[in-house]
Amino acid sequence: MQLTTLIAALSAAGITTALPSVAPRAEDAQDVNPFLGKNYFANSYYAGELNQTVDAFLARNDSLNAARTRTVQKTGSFVWVTSVAGLSNIKTTIDEARAEQRRTRKPQIVQLVLYDLPDRDCSGGQSGGEFTSANGGLELYKKTFVDPYAAALKAAWDLTFAVIVEPDSLGNLITNQNVPFCANASSTYEQGIAYVIAKLQAPNIAFTSSRPTKPHFNHQLAADEFAKVVAMAQNMTGTRGGAKIRGFSTDVSNYNPYIADPRANYTEYSNSYDELHYADSLAPYLTNNSLPAHFIIDQGRSGLQNTRDTWGDWCNVRAGFGIPPTTNTNSSLVDSIVWAKPGGESDGACGPTINGVLAPNAGLWWESYVEALVVNADPPLAPTYTKRW
Ligand code: GLC
Repeated sequence: MQLTTLIAALSAAGITTALPSVAPRAEDAQDVNPFLGKNYFANSYYAGELNQTVDAFLARNDSLNAARTRTVQKTGSFVWVTSVAGLSNIKTTIDEARAEQRRTRKPQIVQLVLYDLPDRDCSGGQSGGEFTSANGGLELYKKTFVDPYAAALKAAWDLTFAVIVEPDSLGNLITNQNVPFCANASSTYEQGIAYVIAKLQAPNIAFTSSRPTKPHFNHQLAADEFAKVVAMAQNMTGTRGGAKIRGFSTDVSNYNPYIADPRANYTEYSNSYDELHYADSLAPYLTNNSLPAHFIIDQGRSGLQNTRDTWGDWCNVRAGFGIPPTTNTNSSLVDSIVWAKPGGESDGACGPTINGVLAPNAGLWWESYVEALVVNADPPLAPTYTKRW
């Protein structure tokens, strides 16, 4: 997936009434941060991938970094649902989150990425999906992917969901119209994402743009594009208030710091040189377009700064785990720092090599890369010395 700009949605499908300790549906009220008071659910799939990392550190008698990896296993991150076959991961995740909610009596926020648009990754070319617009892909996407996705979330009324919708896609329409595949995909992307927003109303949805990677990135263009798609979703539901989004996600699968220190030279042309400045500078354009200026910001791999040659480098950049998920963001615009990209899953067969070895294909595990993420984490990961996941 190339990192230019993204769209995300936060959906909150309600909170349980079955558990006495759980709050009522705070998300029903507008302008309530859906992450507040929730545990960021840590899914077993990613924890399972990291078992080999714990073992690798232990095999080298590196018990500190093994213990730091255990902390990553317990940190809530997003589950990427990227194909029809992958829809079963939603059920697994819901089952596990319910068990955790029952066990701990603490409301869980389940974090999901919805990522299967026709003509996916039109610019980066590393994360193509299963549908093509030329082949009736939009209808297949709606009926075989989005409909069951939405149904599964709506049925799990006792959990809260944060959903990042099709990261990168609308960003590609904004910044990569010169790429013919992106230009051709425009209408399909807009219709597909509008459909997702309309379908995921239950009751909060958010929508976002990520780091501009081009010097003359235009916030107005971004806000106009987002407003257009939200309006399309509202038309689908037949009511202006019928298609809400919570806000926007930034830096998904990218490497920009929340607060740059120091500011990287390669960002000197932009006032949006770190994610907080980006949120601050985009917010007024969103507000002027009647869009909510709320953000979630991926810092999963933003822990090591100034490691790129150019700001646009997006593929398997040398990095460390970053600020762990928190609602303590010191900004009224930012709902939460999150870990969206599961660190260790490759961005594609591109980017710098490690010990002369190139990264595997997108989504595949790259063990030496994740070990570096652990060692380079900033802030350093606290060690967990209790038993493994
Ligand atoms: C990339 C991959 C996808 C994976 C995701 C998260 O987009 O194409 O398969 O799930 O990254 O690692």
